[in-house]
Amino acid sequence: MFWQLTLFAYLLGSLSFAIVLSRLTGAPDPRASGSGNPGATNMLRLAGKRLAIATLLGDVLKGLLPILLARWLGLSIEEQAWIALAAVIGHLYPLFFCFRGGKGVATAAGALLGLYPPAALLAIGAWLVTIRLTRTSSLAALVALPLCLPLLAWQQPAALGPMALLSCLIVWRHRSNLRDLHAGRERHF
Ligand code: G3P
Repeated sequence: MFWQLTLFAYLLGSLSFAIVLSRLTGAPDPRASGSGNPGATNMLRLAGKRLAIATLLGDVLKGLLPILLARWLGLSIEEQAWIALAAVIGHLYPLFFCFRGGKGVATAAGALLGLYPPAALLAIGAWLVTIRLTRTSSLAALVALPLCLPLLAWQQPAALGPMALLSCLIVWRHRSNLRDLHAGRERHF
């Protein structure tokens, strides 16, 4: 059942809500405008609040659902964490969109919410505080994600390996944001 759920999580993760919703509504393709990232932040820039919220919810749910299913089927925390990683990899490298995906923040938040809600709430809190202070979505993600790892390591040590790998992947996908932050030209809300 572990491998079937891993495949399911990858395929669900591959469903890029930003791309699907932009196609359904005629909004600009997020891969071709703004930051070029198919995610909720870029949808907010390009298509407004409603589509951004719909994208955010869809991307969070595709991280959360496979974990809830895995738990219901009695899989271990470590197996759940590998399944979370598969969902995020689906978002980053989607089968349905030529492997050109997003940065994985919302999907990782959904997966973390399923794995260990207090760590997810800490990450969401840190994200909100950083957004409030800097109005910069990428910086908020880069602050929030590593911050919740020690709590996860302490409470759910079996999940740490896959989740640390997931965090490294997300930081890697933010490398253009890191360059822009360093150069002082990163986009703000
Ligand atoms: O969640 C994505 C965010 O961290 C960065 O998005 O569009 O500003 O590159 P963007």
